[in-house]
Amino acid sequence: MSYTNKKIIAALNGKTHDLPPFWFMRQAGRYLPEYMEVRNSCRNFLDLCFSPQKAAEVTLQPINRFDMDAAILFSDILVIPYALGQNVEFVKGEGPKLPAITNYEAIKKLSYDEKLLTPIYETIKIVKSKLSADKTLIGFSGSPWTIACYMIEGKTSKDFANVRYFANSKRQAFDELISILEFAITDYLLKQIKAGAEVIQLFDSWAGVLTAEEFDNWVILPTKNIISNIKEKYPQLPVIGFPRMASIGYCRYVHKTGVSGISIDSQITPEWAIDKLSNFATIQGNLDPILLATDCDGALKQAEKIINYYKDTAYIFNLGHGFLPNTPIKNIEKLVTLLRGN
Ligand code: CP3
Repeated sequence: MSYTNKKIIAALNGKTHDLPPFWFMRQAGRYLPEYMEVRNSCRNFLDLCFSPQKAAEVTLQPINRFDMDAAILFSDILVIPYALGQNVEFVKGEGPKLPAITNYEAIKKLSYDEKLLTPIYETIKIVKSKLSADKTLIGFSGSPWTIACYMIEGKTSKDFANVRYFANSKRQAFDELISILEFAITDYLLKQIKAGAEVIQLFDSWAGVLTAEEFDNWVILPTKNIISNIKEKYPQLPVIGFPRMASIGYCRYVHKTGVSGISIDSQITPEWAIDKLSNFATIQGNLDPILLATDCDGALKQAEKIINYYKDTAYIFNLGHGFLPNTPIKNIEKLVTLLRGN
């Protein structure tokens, strides 16, 4: 396979660029009026995720506007609990709501209905047929730990302390949940790749609330297993890991999981990332999304500094976390102008 014209894949294979290729987490979403129009035509958020034509349209909206180097499948990490039989709702202003899992019985009742995810593979096929050949199509999943957080807590939380309590007091039940998730996520990702995803990103948004030992058990180990399952069938396929707020845990994560790319949050400095991570994986990140939403000049200065630091390193420009819904479009336009060297 020739990667020469796909800059994101080239970067994940170690190529450096004078100007880094870029995409943005949450590049499709509420900051775009054209997204809101499609979103308002759907009964609810999951309906949008499971409507291939509409999901493909919103996947491509940011590319049509800003010409990023990659499209990321429009879906959500919580389609996995849904496919396992858990009810999932998104309440306006509050975020996701699931019936919290409180005991082993509820875990034993989970059953993976793979057919429920079929529309998502259809979305990938539609996007792939419309995406220009120099762009990369990124598929994704949440990682077991972060998905388990929502399944057990039933909603978002600042520290997911209830989930850590559950995991430590009902260890066998929790380990079983992680195994179920490993299995479902592997199947889901293999099917995304079969449908046309060229790179996979694993989102572990709540990796940062764990102790070192918990992080090794519930972030590193399941991620390593999922990546080795993918590599068995698709040895060349790059996987980007995002163990958000993992701090020094990022080092063990790049050493042990087999990721090709490592997405870093906004706490990490470029000096540290280059020193500790760049020999093991291509770095992706880490402009502060809050700065971009609130102080455009400050964000542009930070972006210039970041680009300069990584000029001799394989690197993909991105944010430290997703775009906020209130990010002004003109700030993003200015950032994209800078990233294209204009
Ligand atoms: O453009 C893209 O990034 C692709 C689509 C995408 C969405 N969610 C769409 C979405 C991706 C990759 C995700 C990942 C996701 N979902 C994560 C991991 C990344 C992260 O943000 O930490 C997590 C934790 C979720 C779970 C989730 N989904 C939450 C907590 C929420 C509510 C958040 C909020 O800001 O209200 C969602 C809903 C969601 N997922 C929206 C979008 C565009 C907004 C929902 C809407 O349009 O009503």
